[in-house]
Amino acid sequence: MKQRAIAILGSTGSIGVNSLKLVDQFPKHFRVETLAAGQNIRLLAQQVNKYRPRLVSIRNAADIPKLEAMLAKDLGLEIHSGDEGAEKAASLPTVDVVVSAIVGFAGVRPTLAAIDADKLVALANKESIVAAGDLIMQRVKTTESMLIPVDSEHSAIFQTMHGRLHDEVAKLQHIILTASGGPFLHVDAQELQKVTPQEALQHPTWQMGAKITIDSATMMNKGLEVIEATRLFNIPADKVKVQIHPQSIIHSLIEYVDGSMLAQLGITDMRGPLVYAMAYPDRLHRALPSLSLSEVGNLSFFDPDFNKFPCLRLAYEAANVGQSMPTVLNAANEICVAAFLKKEISFPDIARYIEKVLEQHQVAKLHSLDQVCTTDAWAREQTKKLIQEEL
Ligand SMILES: NC(=O)c1ccc[n+]([C@@H]2O[C@H](COP(=O)([O-])OP(=O)(O)OC[C@H]3O[C@@H](n4cnc5c(N)ncnc54)[C@H](OP(=O)(O)O)[C@@H]3O)[C@@H](O)[C@H]2O)c1
Repeated sequence: MKQRAIAILGSTGSIGVNSLKLVDQFPKHFRVETLAAGQNIRLLAQQVNKYRPRLVSIRNAADIPKLEAMLAKDLGLEIHSGDEGAEKAASLPTVDVVVSAIVGFAGVRPTLAAIDADKLVALANKESIVAAGDLIMQRVKTTESMLIPVDSEHSAIFQTMHGRLHDEVAKLQHIILTASGGPFLHVDAQELQKVTPQEALQHPTWQMGAKITIDSATMMNKGLEVIEATRLFNIPADKVKVQIHPQSIIHSLIEYVDGSMLAQLGITDMRGPLVYAMAYPDRLHRALPSLSLSEVGNLSFFDPDFNKFPCLRLAYEAANVGQSMPTVLNAANEICVAAFLKKEISFPDIARYIEKVLEQHQVAKLHSLDQVCTTDAWAREQTKKLIQEEL
C-alpha cells in the first residue's frame, strides 16, 4: 500500500490517540497530514511537534497564541480554528484518509466536508450519522468518497459482508449488534438512582472518552448504534437486534434469511477497526495481537433489559419514526450526559428528560444542513429548559 496522508479530527481524544499509535506502528503506510482538536492545547502541541502536520485546527481562536507558544520554530504550519478550521483539516487536497473522531454533533460539519472532498472517511463520530444520517448518506452516494465505520460493531458488520453491502443487505434477516452491557449490567434498577458519574465512567471492557462511556452505561450508545446501522446499511430498525455479550469478543454478527450467521471476532482494542478503515481495502500485518480462543474459553449472550435501560427503547422509537427524531434524541442526550457529569441530574433522569423532549417534538423531514442544525439547537434549548425548571 502506498503511504496515505491522514487527517485526524479529534486527535487529542481516545480514538485520535489510537489513530496516532497506528501511525507510529506503520510509518511506511501512514503519515499525519492534518490534526484537529478541541481544548487540550498541551497534548495537541506535543502531537504537532512530533508529527509535523501541514495544518492544525483548534476549537477556539482565542487559544491560537497559547498553542503557538508551545510549538517548535519553523514548522511552516497553517493554524485554523472552529468548525471552519476542522472542515479545512478534513478537506485539504493532499489528505487521503480522514479519521472523523470529534465527539458529538460538532463532528457533523467536518464529516460532511470530508465526504464532499471525496475522502476515504474512517467514521468514529457516530453522532453525525445519527443526527444527520440522511444528509450524510445522500452525499456519500453523490461523491467519490467512501465511508468505512470505525465503531467496532459496524466495522464487524462491514467486514462480514466484505464490502459487498448492497448485494448482501437484501439477503439479511438481522444485523445483531453485541453490547458489553456496561458497568451497571448486574446492578438493580432501583440502585441506578444513586449511581455517580465516577461509577458510570468505569467501563468493564473498553477504554473510551467520557461521553461515550456514559452512553455505554445508559445503553444509549447501543441505541445510537442501532440508528447508525439503519443508516449505514439501509435496513429498518426491526431488523437490527441487540445482544448483551459481556466478553466483547464477538464484535457483531449478521444473520442471513436462510438462518446462517456470520460473526467477526477480535481482541477489545479500537486499533482493530481503525486500522481496517485507515488501510481499506488492504490489511496490515500484525496490526493487533491474535485472539486466543482457548484463553477466552466461554462466550455468553442474553437479551437487553429495555425497562432498566430506557435509552435503548427511546433510540429504537426514534429510529422507527426517523426524519428529525434521531437528531432530537442525539441533541437531548448530549445535554443530559453533560448535566449528569456535572451532577445536575441523576442517572435515570437522562432517559426521563430525553423522553420528554422527544414527546414535545414535532417531527419533520430534514432536507438541509441548516434544518439539521436548527433541530439540534431546538432540542438542546428544550432539554436545558426542562432541566433548569426542575433544578
Ligand atoms: N473511544 C472509543 O473507543 C470509541 C469507539 C467507537 C466510537 N467512538 C466515537 O468516536 C468519537 C470520539 O470518541 P472518543 O472516545 O475518542 O472521545 P474523546 O476521548 O472525548 O475525544 C473527543 C475528541 O473530540 C475533540 N473535540 C471535542 N469538541 C470539539 C470541537 N468542537 N472541535 C474540535 N474538536 C473537538 C476533543 O478535543 P479536546 O480533548 O482537545 O477538547 C477530542 O480530541 C465519538 O463520537 C465516539 O462515539 C469512540
